[in-house]
Order: sequence, then structure tokens, then C-alpha cells
Amino acid sequence: MSFKGIDMSIDVIILAAGQGTRMKSDLPKPLHPLLGKPIINYVLAAAAPLVDNPPVVVVGYGGDQIKKSLGDQARFAEQADLLGTGHAVQQAEELLKGKSDLVLVVYGDMPLVRTKTLSDLIETQKNNPGPLTLLSLEEKNPRGFGRISRDSTGKILAIVEEAEATPEQLKITELNAGMYCFKADWLWQSLSKLDLSPKGEYYLTDLVEMASREELSIASVSAEDPEELLGINTRVHLAETCLVLRHRINHEWMLSGVSITDPISTYIDSDVQIGQDTVVLPNTYLQGSTEIGKNCTIGPGTRIFNSLVGDHCEIEFSVIEESRIENGVDIGPFSHLRKGAHLGPGVHVGNFGEIKESYLGEGSKMGHFSYLGNAQVGKDVNIGAGTITCNYDGEKKHQTVIKDGVFIGSDSMLIAPLEIGENASTGAGSVVTKDVPPDTVVVGAPARQIRKKTKK
Ligand code: UD1
Ligand code: CA
Repeated sequence: MSFKGIDMSIDVIILAAGQGTRMKSDLPKPLHPLLGKPIINYVLAAAAPLVDNPPVVVVGYGGDQIKKSLGDQARFAEQADLLGTGHAVQQAEELLKGKSDLVLVVYGDMPLVRTKTLSDLIETQKNNPGPLTLLSLEEKNPRGFGRISRDSTGKILAIVEEAEATPEQLKITELNAGMYCFKADWLWQSLSKLDLSPKGEYYLTDLVEMASREELSIASVSAEDPEELLGINTRVHLAETCLVLRHRINHEWMLSGVSITDPISTYIDSDVQIGQDTVVLPNTYLQGSTEIGKNCTIGPGTRIFNSLVGDHCEIEFSVIEESRIENGVDIGPFSHLRKGAHLGPGVHVGNFGEIKESYLGEGSKMGHFSYLGNAQVGKDVNIGAGTITCNYDGEKKHQTVIKDGVFIGSDSMLIAPLEIGENASTGAGSVVTKDVPPDTVVVGAPARQIRKKTKK
């Protein structure tokens, strides 16, 4: 129980103004993609459940790009000159002063931090009579983090930045993660008292020494899992972070009933959804906003991006982009569904098929090396081997409509715009230039009607 009661209002500040020089990139560091989302979106997602108002992101380098990318998920404060982490927090004062009891400060380059860790920080601070609680971690490899200096009784005295540490202090293995929960009024008062560091920056970490000199109580929370606090400064760190996140995501899916036969070669973006009893085979990439249903077999060697896949589907060695696949479809090996492909229930697409902006109705089959672009295909249609919708006349794209029950013979060229009526057939090698009435057989180049079908 907090002696102050637990109903304290909280605001979150995410520091993301730094240039990220060591990334050697034109893209601002917070926007570098990590399993389908920018780095900073992970920090935002971890913090957002803890507060009522959107977090304040402090932006500087590449600020306009970051604002555009995050939109109304965040509020923004600008840091025109990058004068350090203390100065960065100060830029949020105008927006937040007098608005909340507590302020949580997190760094925008630590995407693995969990909501639970941040809420532990807040809960500890709620019970701390002093002005701040910091997050620490025990690590042999200090990776440039500030060291936490304590006196012989264990009281926190200061955070010593690596550049300013004595050889003795460099040996300290208790490190500053860079996440803090402050009592808001103390924070705003104290920031203006910060002195310039030897590096010419206002260090947020100097507030710790300030509180200690004022004899105020500084609490700490020790991170249970130091992996959460991998910060990204270089592209090597980005890859290391990606690996940890990937294992985390794969692990969660396996615990919720998805089989992943080779987690090491399986890449599942953080917003993907997968149904129970689906099996994901090696070398598979499930990306963006993809949703996969139940009891599917995906892979090996498959990439699915921003697509919806129903239940009981099998997709092998294929690439699926911005497509919709209904229940019981099987695809591959080696097919490519491009933007706007929509396969109805039970459709079969075999090898070397390419489909773009097209619908195939229930039970239709396209077994071997065909191209469908801008086509509307009905139910139970057979698309013979090597069929091509010639949808582009050099200037415009045109539609091909193929009605229910049509049989397209092998190697047919369908010159759009074109409509092929119900239950019609084209002979092998036909070049179809004109609409085909229902129940009619056409053959040749250009294709001509040879007979009407007798209804069965
Ligand atoms: C900081 C801490 C260090 C801690 C480490 C953990 C300070 C002085 N040091 O060091 O104790 O162990 O984080 O990662 O705080 N930023 C701004 N504006 C600035 C400078 C930085 O917004 O003027 C932002 C950066 O974009 C970044 C974060 O603050 O998200 C941390 O900055 P960085 O320069 O990486 O600090 P470190 O040297 O890593
Ligand atoms: Ca850093």
C-alpha cells in the first residue's frame, strides 16, 4: 500500500531526439524497422497501457519524419539543440508541468522493455518518499552504460557516466538502464538546476546525485531480464535486438498452440496473428499485418506479407503479398500472389502461378505456370497450363471475366477486355480476342467458335 494512495496520475516521456550517429544512416534511429515496426513503436506500445494520455516523444534529429510516422499515438516536444538527456526531458515541461503526479522517462532506443518492468518502476516510486526510482541491471558487460554508485550502506549516491568514471568505478557491474520514474514537481524544479557535464551536455543522470545530496530517498528496481534493456546504438545492436525479439515472438506462438519446426529460421513480425494448430515450417517469413487461420501448414520457404489466410490452407515455397486467401486453399510450390489477389474457398494454385488484382471463385484450379491479372474468375473454373491474361495493351490494364464452370485450355492467351461465358471452353493454344458466349467451344488464333456444348 502506498502511503499516498495509489491513484496517482502519470505521464510518460520517451526520449528520441538523439542523432543516432553510430547507425550511419539517413533514417532517424527511432524509425529503423524491427520485425515490421519502427523501433520507437515498441517503446510506445510498452508504455501506452500505463497512462491515460498519449506519451510525449521528445524529437530532434529527423523530428518531422518521426511525427509523421507516429501520428496521434503520441504528443511531441521538440529539442532543437541536442544538449543531453536532461535537456531533452526539459523540453516536455511546457506540455506536462502541473498535469501529473509522476513522470516516467524512457529512452526511445530500448524496444525490448516490457510493460511489467515499467509498471514495477511506477509502483516502486508510488511507495518511495523520495523523488525518484531508477531501473538498474546487473551485467558483466557494461556496454557503455552509466554505473550506479552506492555508499557502504547501499544508498545510491550517483550515476557515473562511463566517460567520466574512475578505473575503480568502471568495475561496478550495477548499471543504469536509463528508465526512471520521477515525482513530477521535483523533476521540473530540479532540471533547471542541472550543470553542464564535461561533455557539454545536461545529463538527466545528474539528478540522481542531486537527490542524494539533498538527502532524499532514491529507490531502484532491478531488471529481472537484462535482455529487455538492450539499447540500439549501432546496426549490430539492431540485429541482436531483432534476434531476441524474434525468439520472444516465436516462443509466445508456440505456447499458444502454433508449431514452429525451426524457430531459428522463422521470422514472425510482431503484429502477425496465427490460429491454433497451424504449423510453420522452416525459412518462413510472416510479415506486417498478416493473419493466418487455424490448422494451416505454411512453408517451408514462404513469405507472406500483409495478407489474410483462412483455416486449413497449405502454402509451400511461395510469396504472398497483400492478398486474401479463404479456407482450404493450397498454393505452391513456387507461386506468387501479388497485391489484390483473392482466392475463394478450396482454390488450388500449383507451381509457377502469378496472380495480381484477381479473384478466383470457389473450387477453381490453376495448376501450372499461368498468369492472371485483373481477372474475375467464377467457381469451378479450370485454368489450363500456361494460360495468360493479356491484361495490358501498353497503355491501360483491362479486365478479363471468366464465368462459372469454364474450361480454359492449355496455353490460352486471353486478350482483355474479355468475357468468357458460363461453361464455355477454349482449345489448347487459343488466342481469344473476342467475348465467348456461354456453353461455347472456341479454338485457334484468333479463336473461333467451333460448336455449342450440349448440356449434360
Ligand atoms: C544514457 C545514460 C546512461 C545509461 C544509458 C542507457 C545519460 C547521461 N546517460 O547514456 O547512464 O546507462 O543511457 O542506455 O542519460 N537523447 C535525446 N536528446 C539528447 C540526448 C539523448 O533525446 O540531447 C535521447 C536519445 O535519442 C536516446 C536517449 O536519449 O534515445 C539516450 O541517449 P544516448 O545518447 O544514447 O545516451 P547514452 O550515452 O546511451
Ligand atoms: Ca544509448
